[in-house]
Amino acid sequence: MIKIAHRGISAQAPENTRAAFNKMLPLGVSWLETDIDISSDNQLILIHDNQVDRTSDSEGEVNHKSFSELQKIDFGGWFGTDFVGEHIVTLDWLIDFINANQLNVNFELKTAVTEDNQQYYLKRVVSALNRVNSGSDMIVSSFNLELLEKYHQLMPQVAIGVLIEGPLPDNIVALAQKIDAKYIHPDVTYLTQNQVSYLVANQLAVNVWTVDDDLMAIELEKWGVNAIFTDFPET
Ligand code: G3P
Ligand code: MG
Repeated sequence: MIKIAHRGISAQAPENTRAAFNKMLPLGVSWLETDIDISSDNQLILIHDNQVDRTSDSEGEVNHKSFSELQKIDFGGWFGTDFVGEHIVTLDWLIDFINANQLNVNFELKTAVTEDNQQYYLKRVVSALNRVNSGSDMIVSSFNLELLEKYHQLMPQVAIGVLIEGPLPDNIVALAQKIDAKYIHPDVTYLTQNQVSYLVANQLAVNVWTVDDDLMAIELEKWGVNAIFTDFPET
């Protein structure tokens, strides 16, 4: 079973920062997950929340800030004084890092991208992801299935994963087949062994988020889960 570093090694460093991604290397972790958002002036950047408040020394909506405004914000001090000086990471930086270190990646497309700039966001994402070396495994996922479908039409060679928050819907296989998804990314809280068997029987691989409990991870491996997203991929 693959263990995917959730927003980098986010138990040891502030999520989605250079520090969190750099920590993968000495730990021998080869898969990472991150979240792609966009600044008000269309720079692709990596941040999970729609606001900067939780993970920085500032406040406000990510999409309302220009890249130069985001660059002035500290994204490390909230986690610990050792990390003061961590700045927003661009998608371009991370792709260079992935290529230089032969890593594999799950990019999550953010749901908060507005209808107005969706097409622009997707074009920028496709152009950036085209730079990932062919030797890296890559999955693109989203909770926003319309956005994910539009992305897949632009870049059909990259496998996509349907992210589900809460219980799996009864029509999950049909939803995945409709958009040609290869993966289902369910919420561990609600997942059952029967559901995993059902998805696998329908040729859908299952990548579960967010699993930080060792015993749960062992159980999921027995169920036939393909991968887990975890803040502790090294254990
Ligand atoms: O993609 C797995 C996981 O990252 C999905 O949830 O909220 O952590 O982005 P979230
Ligand atoms: Mg995510």
